[in-house]
Amino acid sequence: MTAFQPLVFSGVQPTGNLHLGNYLGAIRKFVALQEKSDCIYCVVDLHSITAQLVHGDLADQTRSITAAFLASGIDPKKHIVFNQSRVMQHAELAWVFNCVARIGWMNRMTQFKDKAGKDRENASLGLLAYPSLMAADMMVYRATHVPVGDDQKQHVELTRDIAQKFNNDFSGRIAELGVGVEMQVGEETVNGFFPLIEPVIGGPAARIMSLRDGSKKMSKSDPSDLSRINLTDDADTISKKIRKAKTDPDALPSEMDGLAGRPEAENLVGIYAGLTDMTKEAVLQQFGGQQFSTFKPALADLAVEKLAPIAGEMRRISADRTYVDSVLRDGGERAGARAEATMKSVREIMGFLQH
Ligand code: TYM
Repeated sequence: MTAFQPLVFSGVQPTGNLHLGNYLGAIRKFVALQEKSDCIYCVVDLHSITAQLVHGDLADQTRSITAAFLASGIDPKKHIVFNQSRVMQHAELAWVFNCVARIGWMNRMTQFKDKAGKDRENASLGLLAYPSLMAADMMVYRATHVPVGDDQKQHVELTRDIAQKFNNDFSGRIAELGVGVEMQVGEETVNGFFPLIEPVIGGPAARIMSLRDGSKKMSKSDPSDLSRINLTDDADTISKKIRKAKTDPDALPSEMDGLAGRPEAENLVGIYAGLTDMTKEAVLQQFGGQQFSTFKPALADLAVEKLAPIAGEMRRISADRTYVDSVLRDGGERAGARAEATMKSVREIMGFLQH
């Protein structure tokens, strides 16, 4: 191989309802990328047990995220949609990466610190090793691009560090076995087995904030349901949540500078921009000088127009459990074949005796 084949991989955890942040920060990008790239989208059920071991409804949550992928427009025939636990090679490569990555790297992860809270000694070992499994998710397919929200940036950088250390530590074996690919690292051309994956972040919706507090990100775990718009909310609920969203008393500015120190206003402008594929600047050109009493109803109409059809499709698809399960089964088989091809080489590179 002379260059890595472009391949998109991303994952979503089956924990709680999907919200507007997940949709604008990730799933909408998944849909856009499938037009020009080969894509693999995964419901990461192995990750979901790192914070909460026992889930009464893990299978249903997995189906519900799958239905959201399909309802948003992901094509499971042209691309791959599956749940992580079906492809054991993710866990196998994660083990190798646990031995490549250093404990200090994991301890620096801000998501680990946030999720473990004060009682870090009592967090699961899986929560600490979470980013290693995430790196394995992408690298077991030698993926080159990952669309994610801003909160995953540090994990993607860590994935690059793990890939680079693996490539360095095993450079001799990789060359000997002829399984490397030429790639540019800074000024140098190196021969590596794993690509240095590029995050696809950016855009006005990379970090959607809570509707109740512009300093906190919109999250599944926020106790207030008014803080987020769920993909399953009906039109009235969406409108009510936007009407009640925290704002300030000033009119919208016409320029970006005027949003400084106004996180709630900036967030609503970002949501409008994300839903229409406009820039925040363009939204301000359109609404600059107007009060929230005008902007909020316009935003509510737009959100209902864009999200209500997805909620309807999700309900329709979810009702056909046999179909959803068959998508995951078929995706799992295709993903498994690709993952196994990578792992055959990894086992050889490592020197495990296999015959
Ligand atoms: P998860 O399940 O928490 O979130 C799924 C995706 O939604 C994005 N997101 C947001 N984007 C903008 N604003 C927000 N408020 C917001 N909240 C969430 C997340 O950035 C993510 O892209 N660790 C991952 C799952 C994962 C993964 C992977 C992702 C496991 N393996 C491999 C990519 C590649 C996570 O917990 O996402």
